Amino acid sequence: MKALTWHGRRDVRVDSVSDPAIKDPTDVIIKVTTSGLCGSDLHLYEVLGPFLDVGDILGHEPMGIVEGVGPEVTAVTVGDRVVIPFNVSCGTCHTCEQGLHSQCETTQAREYGSGASLFGYTKLYGQVPGGQAELLRVPFGNNLPIKVPHGPEDDRFVFLSDVLPTAWQAVEYAAVPEGGSLVVLGLGPIGDMSCRIALHRGASQVIGVDLVPERLERARGRGVQVLDLDKHGKGLADTIRELTGGRGPDAVIDAVGMEAHGSPGAKLAAQATNLLPSAVAAKLMEHVGVDRLHALYLAIDIVRRGGTISLSGVYGGQTDPLPLLTMFDKQIQLRMGQANVHRWAGDILPLLTDDDPLGVDTFATHHVPLDDAPAAYEMFQKKRNGAVKVLFKP
Ligand SMILES: NC(=O)c1ccc[n+]([C@@H]2O[C@H](COP(=O)([O-])OP(=O)(O)OC[C@H]3O[C@@H](n4cnc5c(N)ncnc54)[C@H](O)[C@@H]3O)[C@@H](O)[C@H]2O)c1
Ligand SMILES: [Zn+2]
Ligand SMILES: [Zn+2]
Repeated sequence: MKALTWHGRRDVRVDSVSDPAIKDPTDVIIKVTTSGLCGSDLHLYEVLGPFLDVGDILGHEPMGIVEGVGPEVTAVTVGDRVVIPFNVSCGTCHTCEQGLHSQCETTQAREYGSGASLFGYTKLYGQVPGGQAELLRVPFGNNLPIKVPHGPEDDRFVFLSDVLPTAWQAVEYAAVPEGGSLVVLGLGPIGDMSCRIALHRGASQVIGVDLVPERLERARGRGVQVLDLDKHGKGLADTIRELTGGRGPDAVIDAVGMEAHGSPGAKLAAQATNLLPSAVAAKLMEHVGVDRLHALYLAIDIVRRGGTISLSGVYGGQTDPLPLLTMFDKQIQLRMGQANVHRWAGDILPLLTDDDPLGVDTFATHHVPLDDAPAAYEMFQKKRNGAVKVLFKP
């Protein structure tokens, strides 16, 4: 089959690789019909190289049609249409039963002290072959695939694998009080969808911050009050306080993560790791970290006293300085983590209807054949051609 594989920093290729096979009796093989490109894939493309091997298949936002099932699979059959969550979660362990699927005890990458394995996401997360491919092996076939109806285009459902539950969890964790205010930092797919969900769920004021004009425009078009980081610069925090009664917002969602624009020191560390032998670089990255903390610092600055910061942006370092004095003094509540996809699927599915309250049908900006994936990675990273959400069609 064809698959998008990692070869080095900013070097991904479409290769011919062997087809996946059923290994365990509860495995399922799906023929991938659509597979998303995520901001998290950009971390692999740029800084997480030390944790990847040449030939690793990327991608963690797939959906498709069941093509084969192991002898113990009863929940889905050949021909079913399914979305695959990005967490590889068993559904039956202690943490899965608590709705903490991203911490699944059955698939934790213990060697690295990490939570649940993820599709297509480095040795830190189990080195499981990913879904930017023609075929995908899916374990836990009785619990992991989310069955969706035939009929609507894939765009209706594909975001259930990641964008929708991640944004839903971001909003849930932000715990905006009735009639309260929320600032969303970063208006990529996760931030944009978080704004939509927060408005849908009744937040009365949602302010979005980014620096890419078309991303700001897209959010404005959905009723978000938007601020351009580039225009406001250092005055941004004061502007946000002015807009929120002088106190700052009740909650802030950081949907930026470690690719944040604005901290050059971390950029140097990231580049250094690409010049070192990978074993050394992996250690350096784990212990020094590659974080660019601009967005998180901004969140700590602007959130009102006693407010909540909900972190969905991914951070990677172990030794990042945080202003604990301020965080303690302001009585900040901080909630974070990978999304627990199955935890929220039941809340989200009823919204994936013809009325399309969250605008999923028109959410993707680009539909790209898998063969063109390398160019699409570059376009998405450089934010060219209005790329906000790219979907591959294997
Ligand atoms: N927690 C999870 O389960 C989960 C799931 C998916 C993605 N993520 C993470 O969420 C983050 C966003 O993902 P995405 O797909 O939307 O990616 P993205 O890279 O498209 O979006 C990030 C946005 O932040 C903007 N930005 C950069 N620096 C900023 C700053 N200092 N202030 C405000 N905005 C800034 C960028 O212009 C961009 O629009 C990534 O870190 C990704 O890894 C987490
Ligand atoms: Zn993702
Ligand atoms: Zn589990």
